[in-house]
Amino acid sequence: MKHIRFYFLIVIIVAGTYLGYLLFIADTDAPDLTRYPVRQLKFFPKKVNMPEFNPLTKEGVLLGRHLFYDGRLSGSEDLDSLKSCATCHIQSKGFGSDIKVLAGKGYPCGFTKNGEGIFGKNLHVTLPLINLLYNSNGYFRNGFIREQNLYETDDLEIGFKYLESIVWISIVSEQVIDSNVKQMLEIIGSDQVYKSLFISAYGNEKITLKRIVLAISQFIRTITASDFKFYHFMEGSVVLSDSEQRGYELFYSERTGCFHCHAGSMTMTTNQYYNNGGDGELQGNCDRAAVTLNPGERGAYRAPSLINCALNAPYMHDGRYSTLEEVIDFYSENIYNSKLADPLLKGLNDGGIHLNKAEKKDLLDFLHTLTDYTMLSDLSYACPEALGRFGIRAR
Ligand code: HEC
Ligand code: HEC
Repeated sequence: MKHIRFYFLIVIIVAGTYLGYLLFIADTDAPDLTRYPVRQLKFFPKKVNMPEFNPLTKEGVLLGRHLFYDGRLSGSEDLDSLKSCATCHIQSKGFGSDIKVLAGKGYPCGFTKNGEGIFGKNLHVTLPLINLLYNSNGYFRNGFIREQNLYETDDLEIGFKYLESIVWISIVSEQVIDSNVKQMLEIIGSDQVYKSLFISAYGNEKITLKRIVLAISQFIRTITASDFKFYHFMEGSVVLSDSEQRGYELFYSERTGCFHCHAGSMTMTTNQYYNNGGDGELQGNCDRAAVTLNPGERGAYRAPSLINCALNAPYMHDGRYSTLEEVIDFYSENIYNSKLADPLLKGLNDGGIHLNKAEKKDLLDFLHTLTDYTMLSDLSYACPEALGRFGIRAR
């Protein structure tokens, strides 16, 4: 009798647990996700910019890579109307390009004191998508996308705060992909390839704009550029040529001051905002002042990372220079001294830092040690074969 009661109890416990388990799995679609390892790189900022609501998973990143390259993000299958992120963010150019877009059209690039949007009048050059994970000081050239923004919008409830917001803006904005979202969701939804990709990333095949945005954001957070000569020089595994070495010393000298704004970590930028003495007339209105409403920051923009700068022509937010030689000439002889120019700039009272010909060449050679050739052909960032003719491949 005692035994029977004991077994009965066991059966009840086992059955109860099993029932609970069944209820649990019925209630959640959460698939078994594989964590995507975040790379902690030597000399890079320790802090990574990854919101809790969208952690990196291998399944999410793979889905995001497909969507990033899929020309049908435009909402059309017509081969002439294909457009995707990869139209402007091109792998062989470090995920940048020379394409310009009217900044702050269709969506603001800042807010006035009364909370009204500031809309841009000027073209901005495409920003390369590298090391985004290691920037916690605002995205876009003026840093408008930042966590401090209180503004809430749309059903994504992510306002203008995260990379996710940029991905969403890029899909819908008429200046960028200008997607017909309803048609896009239908097209993506009828593709068998996506069925399994959505199931592994989200547990079911429900396709929504929000899920698309989250997955693309995951993919672009994985794009890392750290395999360049100067990085390996700092690690102690290679030496620089004589000219590169002289250029390196110039770059890190108080005479040129370059390192004050373009170093700090091996992402080769402080991600701070400066007026670098380029804009006498201050034509652009999507500058840092549009974000901070501080008139002292007119003409200030984020110091771009110099990693891959040899691939990122044209230069400056508006693409005013077409070669690195021109940029070096600018710092050497053409700095515009105004009250707004950042005091970290050297030679402000003298029109520039006045380098001779040999010094210019040395500095240029140093800038060329910042190119990461590996990422340009890294297959884990490349256009997936499965997209066939709908994949946007480098021109
Ligand atoms: C028509 C060209 C174009 C297309 C298509 C495009 N972008 Fe961009 N992207 C730009 C330009 C131009 C900027 C710089 C805007 C600025 O800062 O003023 C930019 C900036 C960004 C940034 C900010 C990077 C940083 O360092 O702050 C991210 C992230 C980004 N784009 C992601 C995407 C994604 C994801 C897609 C696809 C959904 C996409 N873009 C499609 C042109 C484009
Ligand atoms: C006070 C900060 C500051 C100093 C000092 C400085 N820069 Fe810059 N640099 C910037 C800013 C800000 C921009 C972007 C300006 C814009 O978008 O209009 C920039 C842009 C550039 C670009 C273009 C990058 C691109 O992708 O468009 C290069 C190259 C560059 N700087 C190299 C240098 C070199 C070399 C030196 C030293 C001679 C130097 N900088 C000194 C702040 C600075």
